[in-house]
Amino acid sequence: MRAKIIGTGSCLPDRSATNDYLSTIMDTSDQWIHSRTGIHKRHLVSSEEETTLTLAVNAANAALEDAGILPAQLDLILVATVSSDFITPSTACMVQKALGACHATAFDINAACSGFLFALNTVDAYFQSGACQTALIIGVETLSKIIDWSDRSTCVLFGDGAGAVVAKASEEGMVASIQGSDGTGGDILICKNRTNNNPYIATGTDPGYLSMNGQEVFKFAVKKVPECIQSLLAQTGLCASDVTYYLLHQANYRIITSIARKLKLPIEKFPSNVERCGNTSAASIPILLDEVHKEGKLSEGDILLLSGFGAGLTWGAALLKW
Ligand code: UT7
Repeated sequence: MRAKIIGTGSCLPDRSATNDYLSTIMDTSDQWIHSRTGIHKRHLVSSEEETTLTLAVNAANAALEDAGILPAQLDLILVATVSSDFITPSTACMVQKALGACHATAFDINAACSGFLFALNTVDAYFQSGACQTALIIGVETLSKIIDWSDRSTCVLFGDGAGAVVAKASEEGMVASIQGSDGTGGDILICKNRTNNNPYIATGTDPGYLSMNGQEVFKFAVKKVPECIQSLLAQTGLCASDVTYYLLHQANYRIITSIARKLKLPIEKFPSNVERCGNTSAASIPILLDEVHKEGKLSEGDILLLSGFGAGLTWGAALLKW
């Protein structure tokens, strides 16, 4: 049995910050941000009531409603995030409690922007083994709390949000997937962000915000994502044009157009929300999938190719039948 997505949901914080707004609090401009990234605005949590958990639960409830599944029917909850509210309990366990999903096993996956794909692949593997039948997968981030707001080269890129899907074990759905990691590249996108309470080790005062070598990440993305896509297509014997939509991690519109060019495909096959949402890391692919689904663009039998890359370094792709 494979993972078939039967419902989607998403949640964005109420407040959005435009590039023009950011240019009032730092030395930047709409012209610079939009021309280099395609981003015009991003949603940011703006009160203590909006947390990683609340965004995740709202997205989850929308996905459950769309799927017609009750929380008690879930036997697995996976949350992909690098910005959980607590170290423990996991966000997945907190979601389980909030939903009352009393029969589900729940845990988090840390694979940064590839996290949703890693979680989807994990669910598919559980389904193939027969261990579970009904899963909730959430990608959620409140990166705004770990970003260095004095580093204009990173803080303008990211946004907060959550996307969720409900997957059911089925004869059809996931066709093939691929994923990988290269820890030797970990330094180019890194967030230490932990105070050390060990009595023998000085903690220092560095808050450990997210830092990034943007050009190296860019080069990695435009090489790795097309490689992933090509190898997945080769594995399945499909042509690039057989895919209805490519739902890529929304990091930068220039990365998306470069990938479309490399694959010699029209940009219309690459829906994008990066202009409105910025880079929401693990949440970006499920938010985009929810939008495309709710806009009525998907028909039964459509072939979707999801692919992403991120810190770790990590990358992945999944080809599935809608
Ligand atoms: O999920 C994965 C997350 N990461 C990514 O996907 C990041 C991939 N990389 C990128 O998207 C691009 O590398 C960036 C958008 C981050 C940067 O674009 P770039 O064309 O690589 O710019 P750069 O870093 O080479 O900076 C060019 C100039 C610099 O000024 P000088 O040294 O040429 O005078 C920067 O100081 O742009 C300046 N700059 C800015 N100017 C206005 C950097 N950030 C800003 C800013 N506003 N926000």
